[in-house]
Amino acid sequence: MYGIVNKALQEMVCAEYGSETWQKILLKAGMMEEVFLSNEPYPDSTTYSIVGATSTLTGLPAEQLLQKFGRYWVLETGRRSYGHLLKSGGENLQDFLINLPNFHAKIFLIYPNLQPPEFQCQPVGAHSIKVKYFSHRAGLAPFVVGLLFGIGELFETTVTVEQTKTRAAANDFDEFLVVWE
Ligand code: HEM
Repeated sequence: MYGIVNKALQEMVCAEYGSETWQKILLKAGMMEEVFLSNEPYPDSTTYSIVGATSTLTGLPAEQLLQKFGRYWVLETGRRSYGHLLKSGGENLQDFLINLPNFHAKIFLIYPNLQPPEFQCQPVGAHSIKVKYFSHRAGLAPFVVGLLFGIGELFETTVTVEQTKTRAAANDFDEFLVVWE
């Protein structure tokens, strides 16, 4: 994944647990590298190792860490560096989620070797939407849950997120039901 992901993780961990813990995380993850370059692609294993080492050293289960990171990605990284992209995604939560399948197409302009996730979104009534998430990476469903909560907060809308399907042999996607008031 592009370095921006590792960099954002680093920022979140340092803000929460301090830079000394971050140094220990790098050591535990077997990494010498301290500076991630946003536009440089890194092996996915780097990101997974950081998540694993952070979870071990902080005691926060990886799923909770990923969920926290999803929220951070939208509300901190996204808002700070890609506010214009988030704005162009829609004027309210429902529009943003309906447009979500096209979101990463714009990001190819910034990160040409992007291997983005895929989404299929289908409204279910006026206040909820079904979000199907496809990825060639495993284990990132909790990240998506955090992203969906973050998008809710972005639009100052309280949401509930329920995972209604889990990727398995029978289906190659995770599915979430997002409901708002
Ligand atoms: C704020 C602007 C955003 C930017 C700049 C961005 C950019 C990226 C980048 C660079 C990656 C790493 C993939 C790679 O390097 O191959 C990624 C992954 C991902 N993005 Fe976005 N993204 C943004 C917003 C979103 C939003 C709103 C969602 C909504 C759900 C989302 C869902 C994901 C997921 C789930 C992944 C993990 C990769 C996977 O599942 O295979 N992103 N994104």
